[in-house]
Amino acid sequence: MWMRAARALRALRRGVLLLPLALTALALLLLPRPPPLEPSPRSPSPPAPAPPREEQHLQTSIIEKEEVIEHDEDDVARRPWYMRGGEQRPKHSDPNEGLFPEDAPGDDRVVQQLMYTLPKDETVPVKKILLANGLGAWGVPAGRTEFIRNKCPVDRCSLTADARDAATADAILYKDHHTPFNIKRPPNQIWILYYLECPYHTASLRPSSLNVFNWTSTYRRDSDIVAPYERWVYHDPLVTEKELDKNYAANKTKKVAWFVSNCHARNRRLQYARQLAKYIPVDIYGACGSHHCPRTDPNCLEMLDREYKFYLAFENSNCRDYITEKFFVNGLQHNVLPIVMGARASEYAAAAPHNSYIHVEEFAGPEELASYLRRLDEDDTLYNSYFKWKGTGEFINTYFFCRVCAMVHANERRQRSAHYTDVQAWWRDAACTRGEWRATERDTRDNG
Ligand SMILES: *[C@@H]1O[C@H](CO)[C@@H](O)[C@H](O)[C@H]1NC(C)=O
Ligand SMILES: *[C@@H]1O[C@H](CO)[C@@H](O)[C@H](O)[C@H]1NC(C)=O
Repeated sequence: MWMRAARALRALRRGVLLLPLALTALALLLLPRPPPLEPSPRSPSPPAPAPPREEQHLQTSIIEKEEVIEHDEDDVARRPWYMRGGEQRPKHSDPNEGLFPEDAPGDDRVVQQLMYTLPKDETVPVKKILLANGLGAWGVPAGRTEFIRNKCPVDRCSLTADARDAATADAILYKDHHTPFNIKRPPNQIWILYYLECPYHTASLRPSSLNVFNWTSTYRRDSDIVAPYERWVYHDPLVTEKELDKNYAANKTKKVAWFVSNCHARNRRLQYARQLAKYIPVDIYGACGSHHCPRTDPNCLEMLDREYKFYLAFENSNCRDYITEKFFVNGLQHNVLPIVMGARASEYAAAAPHNSYIHVEEFAGPEELASYLRRLDEDDTLYNSYFKWKGTGEFINTYFFCRVCAMVHANERRQRSAHYTDVQAWWRDAACTRGEWRATERDTRDNG
């Protein structure tokens, strides 16, 4: 109990520290910076605040298995319920504890939402949640099953897809589109807009739909219910590295690999990769390159792990917080060092394990990046420093519907009322850039 409190306090302090640190890191990134001469890893970025989700993991890594053996089972059981083997159930029932965006600016609050519960001694009415796009869009059954089978700490909710429930539902969840039900909206009904894709790939809403949503649920960290592609959580937020028991550079003869099929991404990633290829070998697999190996073939991923040192985890769009499986799965869950392009450098720092990747905007351009990669290629110690995060935590199941249920109850308990006056402006304005982020930061500075 005291340990949890101490941890929460630390997490809180870290949250307060996070913003200035991120700004400092960004400022440092904006300075022209020669590749460091000492074999030291990049300047430390603040560890991401601890939090959670379960996804099928494409690969159960060897390291994680070892770790379970290393720790005794008690240690694993003491982890929170949303981690593998964890049994700690939440005790907090204070709805004011860091659940909503205004409670913790910059934080995604996923862990706090997973650790919220209701007072044990009260009978709480079941909240009805209407899925406007049907059950199939979410792959969940009607009723309370989803909450019970996942052992949600707050499970007093029921799912429905029946349009007749629109008059009485406590919340309505809209996925990608807003098709209003032809029913007068009850006063306390919460409307939630969910987007999986980035703004370039979501449809515009009708003008009459702009000011009707109370909450958003997207990968963006300032959404009310953040739904990240993956969520990394340290087992102990103070332990962000461990000693390696293998050499990740061993036997690798190739440099940079990239699996890509869309050759016309908005952020000109292909042009960047081609520039990079002038200074270091880049093997492009798929429609935009000359190498072939279907990504779905497990041998391809095995080859990636065995032969390549670097992987281009370039998103197709540079949008705020937009970091997908390309990074989390293709990159981090393999034995290659991901080179990233997509969200801002500070946003990767907040979402990724410590020292686990290289952001293209840390370098003036492809030539400078290539020369740093060549240095890593020659220095196994430096290269391996990017893998020390492995085994210090896990990508969790973020139990989306558990959190929706918790939030609907918490909102009522604290009698909170909020809505987006223009949800499209929130979603789109300044959210994406066709060029580099540092150019937009400069523009903002000049204009401001
Ligand atoms: C490298 O190759 C050697 C010899 O084939 C093998 O014993 C070793 O396990 C390999 N190392 C890695 C990290 O794959
Ligand atoms: C939801 O949003 C509407 C406006 O769109 C507002 O009138 C209502 O008070 C909000 N309700 C809650 C519970 O936030």
